[in-house]
Amino acid sequence: MAFGKKGSQRTVNVELIAPGEFAPSSPPEIDRNEPVGHFSEILSRLERFSHRLDGGEQKRLGDTVSTIGAYLLAVRSELGNGEWRSLIEAVRKRGVLSNLLDDPFTRRSFEKPDGYPGDARLLDFIYGAGQYRRDLSAATALGRSLYLRNRMALACKAVRNRSDMIAEEIGDILATANAPRILSVACGHLRELDRIDVSSADNLELFCGFDQDARSIKEIDNACHHPNLVTVVENVSSIIRNKFAYRDFDLIYSLGLFDYLDTRFAVRLTRKLFELLGRGGKLVIANFHQDTGEKGYMEMFMDWFLEYRSEQDMYNLLREVDLTDLSHVEVVFEPAGQVMLLRVVRT
Ligand SMILES: C[S@@+](CC[C@H](N)C(=O)[O-])C[C@H]1O[C@@H](n2cnc3c(N)ncnc32)[C@H](O)[C@@H]1O
Repeated sequence: MAFGKKGSQRTVNVELIAPGEFAPSSPPEIDRNEPVGHFSEILSRLERFSHRLDGGEQKRLGDTVSTIGAYLLAVRSELGNGEWRSLIEAVRKRGVLSNLLDDPFTRRSFEKPDGYPGDARLLDFIYGAGQYRRDLSAATALGRSLYLRNRMALACKAVRNRSDMIAEEIGDILATANAPRILSVACGHLRELDRIDVSSADNLELFCGFDQDARSIKEIDNACHHPNLVTVVENVSSIIRNKFAYRDFDLIYSLGLFDYLDTRFAVRLTRKLFELLGRGGKLVIANFHQDTGEKGYMEMFMDWFLEYRSEQDMYNLLREVDLTDLSHVEVVFEPAGQVMLLRVVRT
């Protein structure tokens, strides 16, 4: 039997959640409160979607993927974590909807050629930057159509939005500070700098790009030219162990890292990063919200599991920070409403 004993007998009720743009433009063929049924029924239902992906019509394909995503979200919210994992396993074992992997973005996430989830080249599919075109041109027609739909998903918009928001922060600091010092933690390819001409910022005292992945750092070293831009190839645990040489930053930010950290580690890192700020410095930490609409699709077909958080969880990251050292704290959403930014200013 493909599923756990409990799961194979289980019937779940669907409260269809289809937030914002994640809702397809045509109504999904799922009724609110309709029972999802036994696991075998879920599998059959997913299998039936498979045929609707072929045929070449972009709107129909987009609607189908959106319906799959909404359906998975509903199923996920009804199952316990163990049952959800069993379902994922069964889907993969049976090869259900494996044609979704024609999308090179979905495939790269699933296969993790660099050995870990969420690498910077994967993010380049979202930004439309770097080498993604090469992979896209090698994809099937279905794969290219799927990619066109997937990169416009709310979660992808959110990634671009958070990058735009941090680019604004950097721009503001460069425009107003005398000798700004900026640290990007888990910087990936530093795509936010594509929007700012840092190379002409004469006042920039230090911009440090910090990431564990030497390939990503090499890409930055080749692309960004400023005498005060330095890169560090390290794991963030070195910051926790006080092995990081720089401090007194005006801005420290981290996009796309805390989504992978368990809470204990995230709290410790938050404190350490806070301690690296100079007086009046700002810390910005991004994290996907627990209501992210694409998470069912991401987990099942992209094997992309994140630590989703609530607004309160974001405030709780400050648990080990001395609150008398804070002059400002807020949690804001980017415009797509999927990613939160914790913003903290040191007195
Ligand atoms: C999702 S990407 C985000 C990249 C970039 N900040 C962005 O938003 O486009 C996550 C990055 O975190 C880096 N990373 C993951 N775990 C890390 C760790 N423990 N220490 C340092 N970097 C890490 C990865 O190498 C990767 O470049």
